[in-house]
Formats: sequence, C-alpha cells, structure tokens
Amino acid sequence: LNRAIAEQSVKAANTLDNTMTSIYDKLSTIFSAAISAAFPDIPDAPVVIALSGNNPKFGDYQCNSAMPIANLFKQQGKKIPPQEIAKQIVEQVPQTDIIDKLEIAGPGFINIFLSKSYASHILQNVLKYGVLPPLLKKKLRVVVDFSSPNIAKEMHVGHLRSTIIGDAIARLLEYLGYDVLRINHIGDWGTQFGMLIAHLKDKYSDYLNRMPPLENLQNFYKESKKRFDDDPEFKKRAYECVVKLQSKEPDYIKAWEMICDLSRKEFQKIYDRLDIKLTEMGESFYQTHMEDVVKLLENKGLLENDNGRKIMWGDKEIPMTIVKSDGGFTYDTSDMATIKYRIDELNGDWLIYLTDAGQATHFQLLFKCAENAGFFDKKKVRLDHVTFGVVLGEDRKKFKTRSGDTVKLIDLLDEGLKRALDKLKEKERDKVLTPEELKQAQEAVAYGCIKYADLSHNRNHEYVFSFDKMLEDKGNTAVYLLYAYTRIRSIARNANIDSEKMKELIEKHNVSLDHEKEWKLGKVLLRFPDVLFKITEDLCLHHLCEYLYEISCAFTEFYDSCYCIEKDSSGDIVKVNVGRILLTEVTALIMAKCFDILGVKPVSKM
Ligand code: ARG
Repeated sequence: LNRAIAEQSVKAANTLDNTMTSIYDKLSTIFSAAISAAFPDIPDAPVVIALSGNNPKFGDYQCNSAMPIANLFKQQGKKIPPQEIAKQIVEQVPQTDIIDKLEIAGPGFINIFLSKSYASHILQNVLKYGVLPPLLKKKLRVVVDFSSPNIAKEMHVGHLRSTIIGDAIARLLEYLGYDVLRINHIGDWGTQFGMLIAHLKDKYSDYLNRMPPLENLQNFYKESKKRFDDDPEFKKRAYECVVKLQSKEPDYIKAWEMICDLSRKEFQKIYDRLDIKLTEMGESFYQTHMEDVVKLLENKGLLENDNGRKIMWGDKEIPMTIVKSDGGFTYDTSDMATIKYRIDELNGDWLIYLTDAGQATHFQLLFKCAENAGFFDKKKVRLDHVTFGVVLGEDRKKFKTRSGDTVKLIDLLDEGLKRALDKLKEKERDKVLTPEELKQAQEAVAYGCIKYADLSHNRNHEYVFSFDKMLEDKGNTAVYLLYAYTRIRSIARNANIDSEKMKELIEKHNVSLDHEKEWKLGKVLLRFPDVLFKITEDLCLHHLCEYLYEISCAFTEFYDSCYCIEKDSSGDIVKVNVGRILLTEVTALIMAKCFDILGVKPVSKM
C-alpha cells in the first residue's frame, strides 16, 4: 500500500504543466514518498531537502534525511548506519523526469543531480508561455494595510518604507494569484481634528463658501497645534469641535472633508510618482464598527474598568485602552475593529499590517486580544505585523534635512530625479538616448533606486538613506541591475533578432544547458518559484533582491565564458548560438518579473 501511495504522489509530482513549478516541492514530494515507503514504521520521518554547495561533485540538491532518521531508530534501540538508511531511501525513489541520478556521500547525504532535459523543458515553457506563477494550492484573500499616513501631517520616510514594502508584498501575492486588497488605513479621525477645525473657523470664517488657500497644510497643522498648546481658551473650543464633528454636524463634517481632501491630494502625488495603487479605508470608516466592537467586548466581559477608562488585557504588562474616560475611542479600538471587519466583512484569510517596529507591542497585544475575543480562529486566519527599522541619514542620526526639518517626500523624490539625471549624464547616456528614452531611464533609475535600496536591506534593520550608495553602479543596487538587464536585452537585438524572429527560434530550438556555466545559470533561474515561496513565509523582500543579484552574477559568468554571437575581425556576425540566445532571453524574462514584483520599472535602453 505504501508503495502504491508513493507511486501515486510521485506521478502527481511528475505531471508537467506550463507553470514554473517549485523544484523544492517536487523533490520533497518524491523523497517524502520514498522515505515513507522505506520506513513505514517511522510515521513522521523528516524530509530534509537542501541546495548543495558550490561544488558540482555534490550534485544540485541534497536529501539529508538519513542522519535524523538514524537517530530516530537509535531512540527505538535500533542501530542502523545512516549510509544504510540513505541506500534504502534511494532504492525507493522511482524513475522521475526531474532527477538524473542520485549518489550517496559521506555519512549518508543523498546528492541529487537534476535532469537537464527537465530543466530545459521548464525554461522552454517560460519562453513559450511567459513567467507563469507556480500553481497556488488555495486562493486566499489577503488584506494588506500599508502606507497609512495621517491627515494634515506630512507623510514621512517611515510611511515611505511602509508604502514601498507594502506595495512589493501586494505585488508578490497578486502575482502568485492571491486575491489582494490594498488598504490605506489613513489617520483621518481623532482629536487632532478639533484644533484643526477650530483654527480653520478662526482663520477662514468663510470656509464654507470659499475654499481656503491651504497649500501648506503642514504649517496650518503647526499653527493650530501651537495655539492648542498655548491658549487654554482655544483648547476648550477645539474639544467642542471634536464633539460636534463626532455628532456629525454638517458644517464640521464639511471642514473635516476639506482638510482630508487637501492631504489626500498630497499623498496621491507620491503614489502617482511611485505607481502605487491603494484603496482608502481610514480610521473614520470604523466609527460604527468600533461601537459594535465595544459592545461585543463588554458582553463577553472582557473589559475592565480602570478609573473610568475601559481596558482589555492581553498577554503583556500593559493593557489596551478600548474606551477613554471621556468616552472616546483610541488607536487600539480602531485596530480591534479592523481585525473584525477585515475577517468578517472583507472575508480576509490573511491580514497583513505594515508599520515601523515601534508599533510591535501594539500589534502583539492587538492580535492576542483579538484572539481572546474570539475574532478569529488561529488555524484559519493568518495575521502578520510586518515591521521595519527606522530610516537614518548618512550621519546615522534620524533622517532630517540640513536645517533639521523632517524631509518632505516630494522633495526627496525630486532630488532622486536630479541625481539620477546627473548619473546618466556622467555616463554620457544623454548623447546616445533620445530625450524620451533619457526621461524614462531617469525615472526608472530615480524611483527604482529609492525602492530597491529599501527592499534590498533586511527590513528589520534600520537603514541609512544615501543617494550616493543607491546610485552606485556596482554591487547589489538598482543601477547595477538595471544596467545588467538592458545589456542582456541588447544581446538579441545585436544579433538582429526581433520579437517575431524570437518566436520562431523558440519553436525550433532549445535552451542550451550543456556548458558548465549555462547549467549554473539555468539552475539559478529554476529556483525562482522557491524564492517566492520563501518570501510568502517571512515576508522579507530582500531575498528577491539577493536572488536578482545572483542571477545577474551567474549571467556574467556565463556571458564571460560562452559566446552568444561570434563576429569576425571586421565585426560581422558569423555565428549566432541560438540555444544561448534563448538562455539569455529566459534570464531577461525572469529578471523582468523580479523587477515587476519589486515595483521597479526596467527600461530596454539605458
Ligand atoms: N497611521 C498610522 C501611523 O502613521 C499607521 C496605521 C497602520 N495601520 C493600522 N491599522 N494601525 O503610524
């Protein structure tokens, strides 16, 4: 029976489709079946598949299950040498299209040599059908809460990180076929609106009839804050305004909407430049939901009275404040409401929240309280707080302008554009590119380098914002990779192969994987789905950046030792190695897909 089941799952792993299936998954399925057939008495035997090191002698992947299985036997009082176990596993691995051969080495490693014809088939599929994502086991609905700046305040570099990382996570999950909702949870509700509205009424009493000239909402915020802090009488009026706003008096709602609209327009400028799509569903949206949540928690007896405020305990020293002593709600209340709403009404199977690491405690407590309140079943819903470190300036202090102000994002993007153009001119690209191409390259470099610098670092670390570093054309930077990509793209062009011709070649020829360096590059390309799966686990995009860099390094090695086009002394093409041109094309396609997931736009000329 075991044998039959094993054969069946291997058969499933063997069926070829047009997607880029995960090598890791396939090998795991095959070895899992082989192991349970070999050792039916060890039910949960570990299936350990790993990449082999750089030495081709050790194969491409390894199955390292023999040692831990030997240990399990030892616990049962049986002494079987791991080499013997490895041998028995290997005997149970049937003929498959993915494995060329297996070898046992050392204390029981099973070295797996991939089949080149299988690899070639997968890469050929990429040429024929595009970079199709691996099949998704279950199409989950994912709610990604990212960017989420606050009204009337400047969107700062922390929000920029949230925006860039959140967008990349959303892009990745969309590509993999998840149903993704991109939610902008803007801070558009709360007591700060009291002082803003009070100040608006004083300064522009005619605001209902004539739109006040509030280009600089930032200053307006500062002015009202100063009055709020200095003038007790103003403060009192500000509180009255909050009450009127909360009871939805039309004039106050109008003032609130006006202020929100102005902020929104500013945010949108950033999103447009960076090509970020978001659906706004801010704090104000949860007003009635918060009331419901409070009732629910109250009925469940989960709220405790603490000097007039209502608190809820999770597993931390500090509780959440669900209702303030004046009856108002808090950030905690609104986030309890987001969890409930996103699961019950938006049918989210997976909720992701992005903020800086400073909010880690808030979210740990929140998730615990929501669990205690029975808002979700841990087995059914996945919750992630995706954190990131602070952005530092080149002096390793908090990121500020020279004069010590917070950096405006628009100014930052403008400076990026300027620096990118300088860089391109320094390389004399302005002499070769048309003005239109130059502009495209400038934007690709500017926005690409800002996003890439952020994404290529482990998000949990703080990171130093430095245009000089970002714009370096060596190492794992956007500039280096964008150049590498255009160079790869130019190879077919130089061989006079246009897209029509390429289609023809794809039909008639196979990707070449014979040369050692071709094979090395090919294997890197095959890992694409596995890199993506890994990111769905830890939501760390730097794996993808490292992978992109690895592709370009493997490509350079290949290109240095393998001619794609041979020319004679007068520069005329005498021979085109089609199999290698095809390998070049797959490389470009997969790189382009990586860029796409990262939200970086490559250009074909640069
Ligand atoms: N507006 C918040 C801030 O600027 C971020 C909100 C994140 N989303 C959430 N559901 N708490 O810090």
